Amino acid sequence: MAQNSITITDNRTQQNYTLPIEDGTIRAMDLRQIKTSPEDFGIMSYDPAFMNTASCRSTITFIDGDRGILRYRGYPIEVLAEHCSFLEVAYLLLFHDLPAKLELKLWVDQITHHTMLHETTKKFMEGFRYNAHPMAMLVSTVAALATVYPEARDIHDPANRLLQVKRLVAKLPTMAAMAYRHSLGFPYVYPDNDLSYVENFLNMLWKMVEPKYVANPILARALDILFILHADHEQNCSANAMRCVGSSHVDPYLATAAAAAALAGPLHGGANEEVVKMLDEIGSKNNVPAYIKQIKDGHGKLMGFGHRIYKNYDPRAKVIKWAAEQVFGVTGRNPKLDIALELERIALEDDYFIKRKLYPNVDFYSGIIYQAMGFKPEMFTVLFAIPRTVGWLAQWQEMLNDPEQKIARPRQIWTGHEVREFVPLAKRNALAVPR
Ligand code: CMC
Repeated sequence: MAQNSITITDNRTQQNYTLPIEDGTIRAMDLRQIKTSPEDFGIMSYDPAFMNTASCRSTITFIDGDRGILRYRGYPIEVLAEHCSFLEVAYLLLFHDLPAKLELKLWVDQITHHTMLHETTKKFMEGFRYNAHPMAMLVSTVAALATVYPEARDIHDPANRLLQVKRLVAKLPTMAAMAYRHSLGFPYVYPDNDLSYVENFLNMLWKMVEPKYVANPILARALDILFILHADHEQNCSANAMRCVGSSHVDPYLATAAAAAALAGPLHGGANEEVVKMLDEIGSKNNVPAYIKQIKDGHGKLMGFGHRIYKNYDPRAKVIKWAAEQVFGVTGRNPKLDIALELERIALEDDYFIKRKLYPNVDFYSGIIYQAMGFKPEMFTVLFAIPRTVGWLAQWQEMLNDPEQKIARPRQIWTGHEVREFVPLAKRNALAVPR
């Protein structure tokens, strides 16, 4: 019997089954041979919310949640944040290796020259209601790009795929900035090709009547680092949405819109917006103990705390704290920081949070920084979506190139009725309570 295997005894039949173990994993399909009779469907694994199911092999992002490790393509996140620009990291995620000088120059040049939006896309954005949420505008506009680039549907041509990847990476900041300015009623600002990726984004956000926008270099670098930290995070909810929707071979604009929609939820990327709302609700340091008690009593969650994978600390939160200091050096300290620090201090000493291994995650401090930089809370998740688009696209390409992948289609355990006898409308009894 192979040593790298597991033997399962089916107590219903006394039959033994030996299943191979590869990379610490058994294949769920191997369970199907375990049957009580030839007509039996066979055993399935049941794993709501994918708590213990690997859905792919990947070489993009490695996380060891118990040791607080996050690496992109083998490089620790802290090293990349210290030494690289966001576009350099984007290249790494998309093309497996860090670029050499000339490769980076070419890559930056290509992204820079794809930042413009088609005027019809601008008009599309103008149609949104004045108070539309910027994330909803972004999701819809990303999807609308599928109407501008119909050739993107040919996802089997690698060169065509790469062109769409460049367009998406380049145009996300433009759409994000337009969504922001739309919500303020300001005219849209066109991209400036003299500027770096992040400086140009800041230009499209903040430029008013000055002939040339000059970003504060400390703020621009801090945002660049935040983009690096948010660029990918292996099989999270939105990456899974990208892979799942992409597995139907839809074009990358529609798949990215689906991933961005997944990101918008408050349990995922929308948490940063919720953190700031929560800090507002708490109001002052003195109210923190009462707020924590309320959470422990089962009323809501401490937003920006907890993670499915990290059970020690989120390595991104450490870098973010450092970036926060840089930003506050320029903008002045966000008064919410004191409440956040107190919340963290008390929570980390509290049995409820210790037992459940709940630590601050990336969203706990990012919102406070974004707010200090001048962003409205509704914009925070949009700031997350810009860099994460790179991760989604890397995951999408990996999925398409993986010969083991097929259209994603989970199974279910049927808990509904057996076949029911149809009753014509005239003979049906009304339910006691109208639904
Ligand atoms: N505050 C209070 N209790 C919590 C929290 C929290 N933030 N998070 C988890 N718990 C409790 C939860 O109630 C459960 O308790 P019990 O065992 O008594 O039922 C236990 O901890 C385990 O939690 P879980 O819900 O099974 O954990 P999960 O892996 O399914 O959820 C999570 C992970 C991130 C969705 C969750 O921790 C959460 O909702 N956090 C707040 C939202 C948030 O900050 N999201 C951002 C995540 S990081 C960035 C990103 O993904 O975009």
